[in-house]
Amino acid sequence: MLNLDENTITSEALRRMQNTSNPRLKRIMTSLVQHLHDFARQEFILLSDVLGLSMLVIAQNHRKPAACTEATVFGPFHVDGAPEYLLGADIANGAQGQPCFVDATLRGVQGEPVPGATVDVWQSDEAGFYDVQYDSNDAHRARGILHSDAQGRVYFKTILPVAYSIPTDGPVGRMLEATGRHPWRPAHIHFMIVAPGYEKLVTHVFRNDDSYLDSDTVFGVRSSLLGTYRRHEAGSIAPDGNASAVPYYTLQYDFVLNPRPATLALATGSASHAA
Ligand code: BEZ
Ligand code: FE
Repeated sequence: MLNLDENTITSEALRRMQNTSNPRLKRIMTSLVQHLHDFARQEFILLSDVLGLSMLVIAQNHRKPAACTEATVFGPFHVDGAPEYLLGADIANGAQGQPCFVDATLRGVQGEPVPGATVDVWQSDEAGFYDVQYDSNDAHRARGILHSDAQGRVYFKTILPVAYSIPTDGPVGRMLEATGRHPWRPAHIHFMIVAPGYEKLVTHVFRNDDSYLDSDTVFGVRSSLLGTYRRHEAGSIAPDGNASAVPYYTLQYDFVLNPRPATLALATGSASHAA
């Protein structure tokens, strides 16, 4: 049977178990397929996140030199096709929150700047919601794509991230409650950085003053991902050159990207065994 879709694949997988001659095995396999597919439909990735499985897999698959910025969970709120912005732009695009100016550098392990990287950024607003969580999701807010300049710098205006609860209206929420766990994530901004010659980096920069750093419900915090979001009083000149009428925040953070093995071999002049 070709072109099975999400509505037909379960019955086809169950049908293929029908010739199992051992009745006990048949019952177990039928039950496994049914439950596995139900889990996949109901927040399976979120379940993997709150059970620590996502971070376990990331830890196994993203071993890097100690100097490199660590990876963390992707989460459900990234969307493809976010708007492209010029450096210095305001990516909040109407999302509510206190102004925050982010200034980041991208470097390789030898300290070399990484120009021309694609930097996909996304975050929640001051109510703790991503744009896609609103019924009136009519525009991309607090998300966007930027490109690093010749010095490997990426800077933009956004809003201060706050701690928020992951969605609790499904089975994962019931599981957290039943096991006496809270659903909170410490405040963070998500980054996905793609640069030629370097490994893709999916990570966050957390607020280092958040009270949930030790108990992130998805186990995503690494001490190297803590950033200082510095508060500045109203009236001072913000990084965009204007005197800010309201208090604002600045974040300076340096990302260190892991070179792809072939690139590293070329850079060090050693014989490459990479295909
Ligand atoms: C997030 O940070 O967007 C996220 C990550 C894992 C689960 C839920 C949300
Ligand atoms: Fe998030």
